[in-house]
Amino acid sequence: MLIDTHAHLYSEEFQQDLSETITRAQNIGVKRILLPNIDTESISEMEKVCKNFPECIPMMGLHPGYVKEDWEQQLNLIEQKLFESPEKYCAVGEIGIDLYWDTTFCEQQKIAFRKQINWAKELKLPIAIHCRNAFDEIFEILDSENATELKGVFHCFTGNLEQANHILSYGGFKLGIGGVITYKKSELPEVIKQVDLKHIVLETDAPYLPPVPFRGKRNESAYVSLVAEKLAEIYACSVSEISEKTTQNAIHLFQLGKFGVI
Ligand code: NI
Repeated sequence: MLIDTHAHLYSEEFQQDLSETITRAQNIGVKRILLPNIDTESISEMEKVCKNFPECIPMMGLHPGYVKEDWEQQLNLIEQKLFESPEKYCAVGEIGIDLYWDTTFCEQQKIAFRKQINWAKELKLPIAIHCRNAFDEIFEILDSENATELKGVFHCFTGNLEQANHILSYGGFKLGIGGVITYKKSELPEVIKQVDLKHIVLETDAPYLPPVPFRGKRNESAYVSLVAEKLAEIYACSVSEISEKTTQNAIHLFQLGKFGVI
């Protein structure tokens, strides 16, 4: 049994063959797929997918890359949606700071991140963090928000050992590992080797960041098995041990018992 803790299956890349995509994932043992939200526009598609495919569980949040001129309006709508029925969501996500492409809305991103952290605190939900070129900014906010009371995941973690240890020092955070760990030039295997498996959850970030040998193609949840295989190599253990432990980590972090996963 595997869990893909981060996949955007509602994106248009899957419009033609979503049902087949989910069947392929199920066939290799993927039991649940967690869908992080992007902005107010992605909500209806995400809801549709979760209604048609009960193995998909939604998150609710505003992605930092979509914090633009209308960010306050976006945030209000997303807040409404989240607080209307918080039991529907397994996390507040994806939220965070992204300073890779554009730093124009850096300050707004910070405010939005802080605000969403406080929703998570209030609702006792974990957070799914998107962090790109922004470890220092994110750590500063987490430190000031008393992150030891928070739970969550650093989705698509690609940092160094020092950053990994900083994250783990909060106590309630896991590292989300996806296709990047299979890339030839990635230094991530060396870092992850020094992190206990109990801190790891699997993800794809589909349709983005496909693992080897699918680079350049569309990523999908079934490829999470390639991430598990790579981790088995890194930890020198069986793939089933990786599956079992990372699944337990995900169930525990996202309280998936509430969604019918034991
Ligand atoms: Ni994402």
